[in-house]
Amino acid sequence: VTRARLRVVVLGAGTVGREVVRELLTSWTGEFEVVGVAVRDLAKAEATGIPQALLTDAPAHLVAGEGDVVVELMGGEEPARTLIKAALGAGKAVVTANKHALARHGIELERTARGAKAQLRFEAAVLGGTPILRVLADDLAGAQVRVVRGIVNGTTNYILSEMAATGATYEDALAAAHAAGYAEADPTADVEGGDAADKLVILARMAFGAWLDRAAVPRAAPGDPPGIAGVTADALAVAREGGQVIRLLATAERGSDGRIVAAVVPTHVPADSPFGRTTGVRNRVEIEAPPLGSIAVEGPGAGGPATANAVLSDLLAIARGEGSTWGSLPPAGTAALRAPWDAT
Ligand code: NAP
Ligand code: HSE
Repeated sequence: VTRARLRVVVLGAGTVGREVVRELLTSWTGEFEVVGVAVRDLAKAEATGIPQALLTDAPAHLVAGEGDVVVELMGGEEPARTLIKAALGAGKAVVTANKHALARHGIELERTARGAKAQLRFEAAVLGGTPILRVLADDLAGAQVRVVRGIVNGTTNYILSEMAATGATYEDALAAAHAAGYAEADPTADVEGGDAADKLVILARMAFGAWLDRAAVPRAAPGDPPGIAGVTADALAVAREGGQVIRLLATAERGSDGRIVAAVVPTHVPADSPFGRTTGVRNRVEIEAPPLGSIAVEGPGAGGPATANAVLSDLLAIARGEGSTWGSLPPAGTAALRAPWDAT
């Protein structure tokens, strides 16, 4: 895309989308022109300050229209996947925060983008506004990443740390995370580890050059409930007595058998360790990449204003013609996956 002022269409004006639209209409008018915003409930979107003239409830019409860039912030599988694919197929650049769709259809969307020479950027899909994918794809492009491990879901980290620190109930902590705009529209994806598994698939694509089978990523140790569903106030109290806290850790590493060893599991960590000190909505990813050694990226992992930062960074990268989030990494294939407790 080479226009001086890019025409942007935004699909979705919820927690993240309305922040992006607000920024584009106030701080970035020299670089971008918002030509349309798609939602379901027009009146609700207008009440947030989005001009009525920009609003439509026909996202496919908007994607087929005059925009240079489609910013997809609706979430979910469909119609997001079809709209992203249509935009890319038409040669339009796409920015999305949709880890759900990317984790299930990443290989298809990457092929479509590469085939149409369209830019596909998705920094906001992992760690909210905090940069991590560009670190893996650009800064560590020459490294052999061995392990990627992290706290990648803000909602569950907020719940676990609030319950441990203030004695908040699970229900109250989840309600607060929802009110703050951290949780997914259906928070089951957060608390049962599905959102973290989605993000692990995307991290693995950048770290290991392969799209994992999302359905095969374990979200609990054998016999345990998924995600943090089985983490009780009693379990947190017992951990505290031992100087530990519980964190939902997502891990992917290169196995000696060539497979990727991956899982999302609630894990005891020392309270005074870097993961233990990562509280509230903050996320943290540690990367082991010999011979560099170990590095870490930490920052806000969810929330509208924070996540809008990553979307805007991607829009600016598109304006500069920097290409897709995978940068100069070669096309990804698929890789076999095993759980850490499976035999090699
Ligand atoms: P949200 O608050 O639920 O907003 C979704 C928006 O999309 C709403 O404006 C909704 O319109 C619109 N929408 C949904 N389905 C639609 C359809 N079929 N046609 C037209 N409009 C539709 O979601 P969000 O929290 O902003 O999240 C958006 C995306 O960003 C998701 O992929 C999410 O996983 C990702 N993300 C979120 C965060 C965060 O902290 N919230 C952080 C990183 C990434 P109506 O309101 O009119 O229904
Ligand atoms: N629901 C997600 C979370 C939003 O809590 O981490 C950020 O991806």
